[in-house]
Amino acid sequence: MKVLILGSGGREHTLAWKISQSDKLTKLYAAPGNAGTAEVAQNISISATDFKKLGQFVQEEGIDMLIVGPEAPLVEGVADYFAENESLSHVKVIGPKKAGALLEGSKDYSKKFMMRHNIPAGASKTFTLETLDSGFAFLEMQKPPYVLKADGLAAGKGVLIINSLEEAKASLKEMLSGQFGEASKSVLVEQFLDGIELSVFVITDGKNYVTLPEAKDYKRIGEGDTGLNTGGMGAVSPVPFADEAFMEEIDKTIVKPTIEGLTKDGIDYVGFIFFGLIKVDGKPYVIEYNARMGDPETEVVIPRVKSDLLEVLDLAAQGRLDEAKIEIDEDFASTVMLVSGGYPEAYQKGKKITEIDQVQDVIPFHAGTTFSELGEVITSGGRVIAMTAKGKDMNEALQKSFAAAETVKFDQKYFRKDIGFDL
Ligand code: GLY
Repeated sequence: MKVLILGSGGREHTLAWKISQSDKLTKLYAAPGNAGTAEVAQNISISATDFKKLGQFVQEEGIDMLIVGPEAPLVEGVADYFAENESLSHVKVIGPKKAGALLEGSKDYSKKFMMRHNIPAGASKTFTLETLDSGFAFLEMQKPPYVLKADGLAAGKGVLIINSLEEAKASLKEMLSGQFGEASKSVLVEQFLDGIELSVFVITDGKNYVTLPEAKDYKRIGEGDTGLNTGGMGAVSPVPFADEAFMEEIDKTIVKPTIEGLTKDGIDYVGFIFFGLIKVDGKPYVIEYNARMGDPETEVVIPRVKSDLLEVLDLAAQGRLDEAKIEIDEDFASTVMLVSGGYPEAYQKGKKITEIDQVQDVIPFHAGTTFSELGEVITSGGRVIAMTAKGKDMNEALQKSFAAAETVKFDQKYFRKDIGFDL
C-alpha cells in the first residue's frame, strides 16, 4: 500500500516510524513532514490543509491511504473532500469527516453529545457576547475555580481556570470579544472537576473499536505542573492509577456509549478518538474529545503497539475492525520533549541540533525540526524533539529519556526533568 501521512509533528514522525515497519507498505510519504519523517518517508512540500494540492498528489502517485495526524485538516473537511471527489473517493482516509471532527472542533457540540448519550462529564452552559449578562449571572452561581472553555479550536490555549469571580467575568468578556478569534465567539462555563487526568485512545470504524494503551501527558511548561500550558512536555504509558477495573469502567461508561452515540447520531467515523479523561473520586469523566491521536501521547502509545498498525488501520477503513487483533507490549514507555527556550511564548528557530547520533536506547521522535540549506537538522518549532524510551518499569524508561534529553544539544534547549513525578 502507498500511504500519505498528513502533519509535521512528533505524532506524525511516530506514526511514520511505525507504519514504515509494516509488510503491507510499499511507499510512505509525509506532507509536509519534518526532519524525522524524512528518515522513514518521503517528505512532500504540501500543507496539510491544501486539499486541492493533496488531492492532485494522491491521484498522481496512486496513494491508497491517507492518515490524518492533526485536527485542522479534519475540522476543515479533508475526509469530506476526498469522499466527495470521484477520483479520490476510493482512497482510505483515516480520520473522520467534518461531522465527526466536530467532537473536537466544537466543545459545545461535544458537550451536548455527551449529555445526549449519558456520558459522564462536568456540567456546563454556553454563552455568546449577546448572552454575556446571563454568563455573569451563571458565574455568580458557581463555586471557584471557574472554568472557561472556548468553543472552537484554539491550539490548546482555549481553556482558562480562574480563582476569582471578578477575573472570571473579565475573562469571559475578553474571550467572547475575540481573545481567541472565531474559536471564542462562544464560550462554555464549565463545572471544575478536581482529579487526575489521563488520555485514552481508540481506533474505530464507526461500529467496532480497538483500544490502544492509555497515557498521561504533562501539559505545563514548568516543573510540578506549573506555568503556561503547552502542547505537551512529556508523557508516560501505561498509567499506574488506571488499573484493569478503572479501564473497564472507562470502556463501559465512556468508550462504548461514545461509539454507540456516533451510530445513533448517524455519524460515520473512521479514525482515532482521543478521550481526555479525569479520575474524580475513583470515577472517570470526559474533559474533552479529540478526533486524532494526542501529541506527545502518540510517542509513548504507538511504540507499545506490537501489531502491524497499517493492517489495523486498513481493517478500520474497510469497516472490518472486529477482525483486528491488537497486541500490546508490557513494557513502560516514556517521552521527554525538548523545547526551544521561551516556548510556549516567543522563541527562536533555526538552531542547529547536534549529538543526536550519541543517544542510546531511545527513539528520538522529531517535532519542530527541518533541514538547513546545508542539510543540517535545525529547530523549526517550539516543541523540537521527543526522547522516547522503554523500560521494565517507569523509572527505567524515564532515566533513559532524561539521559538522552541531556545528551542532545541545541542553543536554548529546555526540558522538564520531572515527567512522571506524580505517579
Ligand atoms: N497532548 C494533548 C493533545 O494532543 O491535545
